[in-house]
Amino acid sequence: MVIKPRLKGGLALTNHPIGAKEFVKRQIDYVKSQDKYEGPKKVLIIGSSSGYGLATRISLAFGAGAETIGVAFEKGVEGKRAGSAGWWNTIAFNEAAKKEGLVSKNFIGDAFSMEMKDDVIKFIKEEFGGKIDLLIYSLASAVRTDPIDGVTYRSALKSTTKDITGPTINFEKEVMEETTMGVATPDEIKSTVKVMGGEDWKLWIEALDKGGVLSEGFKTVAYSYLGPKVTYGIYKEGTIGAAKRDLEHTSDVLNDFLKEKYNGEAYVSLSKALMTKASAVIPIFPLYAALLYKVMKEKGIHEGTIEQKHRLLTQMVYGNNPVIDEERRLRPDNWEMREDVQAEVEALWDKVTPDNFKEISDYAGAREEFMQLNGFDFDNVDYDADVDLDELAKLKP
Ligand code: NAD
Ligand code: NA
Repeated sequence: MVIKPRLKGGLALTNHPIGAKEFVKRQIDYVKSQDKYEGPKKVLIIGSSSGYGLATRISLAFGAGAETIGVAFEKGVEGKRAGSAGWWNTIAFNEAAKKEGLVSKNFIGDAFSMEMKDDVIKFIKEEFGGKIDLLIYSLASAVRTDPIDGVTYRSALKSTTKDITGPTINFEKEVMEETTMGVATPDEIKSTVKVMGGEDWKLWIEALDKGGVLSEGFKTVAYSYLGPKVTYGIYKEGTIGAAKRDLEHTSDVLNDFLKEKYNGEAYVSLSKALMTKASAVIPIFPLYAALLYKVMKEKGIHEGTIEQKHRLLTQMVYGNNPVIDEERRLRPDNWEMREDVQAEVEALWDKVTPDNFKEISDYAGAREEFMQLNGFDFDNVDYDADVDLDELAKLKP
């Protein structure tokens, strides 16, 4: 089967398994080109198969020699459906890790369930040396079933103030177009907090603590985003912003608990805006990202997913140069938020039109990054070659 890209708005309907291997390899190569660092030895990553979670795992494994457990929600081959991008990313990571003698274990399923927590804890106890030093929480999900009351909540990408209309990029049609983000009901705000807030992170820590698998000095970091003024309406003041504030509050609760019992730490880290499966579907965000890339690349301070996470880990979480704000948040988004960067992005934002967006933004770069998330647009992958799905179906993460 020959696999071609098919998009629907900001959603990729297909992905390329051989391209996924290249996607992972390039991140590994970056980490290997950098100095090794002293980091954690045993790590659990929730949301390990793509975006920021995957990059974190790659940095920790190939930069610090960590043994990793990954939890992700992905699909394998089903008939003519080639599986999800995160499925192939995970297989590619596994292969590369094993080649270097690095333990890599994957749990594919629902991180929000108690069953998943039990399975992971059992594995840590019986086959992973009994303890973990670090938990990274990097989930992006649209639904969550609360394991306690059994209710299924759906997140909504909406405003909490007023209807917000603004430009975005449609990668499918390659046009800049207006999108409107409606106002969330109180129920939708609550549901989004249920899905993307801190409740599940806390349940993980409580379960791991009860299971006796947290080491002395244990750390946990959850990923969040704040963003600049031009995206406040959709992000900071949107439903996701409400969920992220809940996540930040949870980090304080967890930090107190972990400090006391393990001499440990809990942080939220605010990361830079990047194209990922999750962010590509947020209205307005893709255009902001394309303008931001333009400015940051010109200034020589652009980072991709792997560079951003590698800096967070080597300089901040396991380094001596943490950038921490007054709300105790780690700020690897500090270059994105620089005044000169934001002033230039705002100036471009005022100038951008459907006719000039490809020239004045880094549209090409943002689009390439989006396509590469799904294994496409790598110059050294032959996209006309037949992909043997029957053979690939034998591989498991
Ligand atoms: P992503 O879509 O690339 O990754 C999400 C991960 O969550 C995947 O591994 C997926 O398999 C997993 N997942 C989803 N539902 C699951 C479930 N029920 N059980 C188990 N695993 C599940 O997204 P991303 O952009 O890397 O986002 C990760 C975190 O980083 C989010 O908290 C996001 O807010 C944050 N972040 C993203 C950006 C950005 O610009 N992309 C910026 C700052 C912060
Ligand atoms: Na992730």
